[in-house]
Amino acid sequence: MRTDRVAAPRRYLMCPPNHYRVSYSINPWMDPDKPVDPAIALFQWEDLRDRYLSLGHTVEVLDPVPGLPDMVFAANGATVIDGRVFGAKFANAERRGEAPAHLAWFRANGFPEIHEPEHINEGEGDFSATASWILAGAGFRSSPQVRAEAQEFFGRPVIGLELVDPRYYHLDTALGVLDGDEIMYYPEAFSPGSQAVLARLFPDALIATEDDAAALGLNAVSDGLHVLLPLGATGLFQPLRDRGFKPIGIDVSELHKAGGSVKCATMELRC
Ligand code: ARG
Repeated sequence: MRTDRVAAPRRYLMCPPNHYRVSYSINPWMDPDKPVDPAIALFQWEDLRDRYLSLGHTVEVLDPVPGLPDMVFAANGATVIDGRVFGAKFANAERRGEAPAHLAWFRANGFPEIHEPEHINEGEGDFSATASWILAGAGFRSSPQVRAEAQEFFGRPVIGLELVDPRYYHLDTALGVLDGDEIMYYPEAFSPGSQAVLARLFPDALIATEDDAAALGLNAVSDGLHVLLPLGATGLFQPLRDRGFKPIGIDVSELHKAGGSVKCATMELRC
């Protein structure tokens, strides 16, 4: 087992669930007849935030906007790499108002390079950064054309991956970056060609089971040592430990009701 893993301090952006509800359905997890408990949602969100703080990370807070119940999923509002901000353009009308709220936050907080995208994309929902590449999911929420736009803006190679299972409508529901070019993913969420691309680029990846994918276990946040992931993804804990990571289970049951989890609620502000 590797024992040389180190946690690097990170800067995250989160948005409290003050207006979080499941009042519409834009993915198979969302059922407005299974309401969210707002008090539990807030408690769970604060617990996640406090975990980051206790691990030495910085958490910036984006003010929630009434009428935008999914805004708690802060990861969808932009993608930030090398301090450069690539804005979101949401696929569904229900979430479109989140993109300008994010852009206003970045403008007010001194990010000099902000790109308003031409093509549909939901921020870190479909963009993940490894050491060598930007991985870009498409199929449900992002346009395949946004890949070229992102590659030009970031100056990093963008690898396109096709999502085929509506339960895994965002890349970050089917694939999690652990450290450098190490990832974990659920192959069946991807088209055969994209599975082959993943196997070629990441031959040593941790492969998740169907149960762990359905617990949204791939929707995890790693600082290089600690991996924060939903409590229900029990099958991932030991494989992560075997690789030298420290898994930390988080109860985010209320976020799961909207098809989101730890990572969706956490945007990484990469410098
Ligand atoms: N209800 C939200 C939606 O369907 C959940 C977003 C989850 N975010 C994520 N990064 N996967 O858009």
